[in-house]
Amino acid sequence: MSGAVSDAEMLARADAVAERAYAPYSRFLVGCAVLARDGRVIEGVNVENASYPLGICAERTALARAIAEGHRPGDFVVAAITASPCGGCRQWLHELGLERVVFRNGGRVVTMTPAELLPESFDSSALA
Ligand code: THU
Repeated sequence: MSGAVSDAEMLARADAVAERAYAPYSRFLVGCAVLARDGRVIEGVNVENASYPLGICAERTALARAIAEGHRPGDFVVAAITASPCGGCRQWLHELGLERVVFRNGGRVVTMTPAELLPESFDSSALA
């Protein structure tokens, strides 16, 4: 099932869902679409708050939603994002074991692994 939806289609899903972002403060709309191994696509958008630090990124809304729907770390093939993922979201993408991440960055489309996005990362192995 993981090959059922192309990365280009996933990025198109992210572009489309970005229109539903709630970003009245930054006006920077971000969309994220995550493909699970079972073929399901889970979408997220950034959701801001008048108390600015409480806003949440599109990647984290998508990934939290996926977990709440029953997916587990390692269940995910690709996350497509309309912007380059921030540092905190790179930690989430690493934690949940995405195979790859495809994102727009300055007019380019970039594909990288979470390990490439977050070298020498902190993870559960440090907590053993
Ligand atoms: N944003 C995301 O949704 N994902 C990222 O990885 C980068 C930043 C959002 C957070 C905030 O609502 C807006 O973009 C401007 O920083």
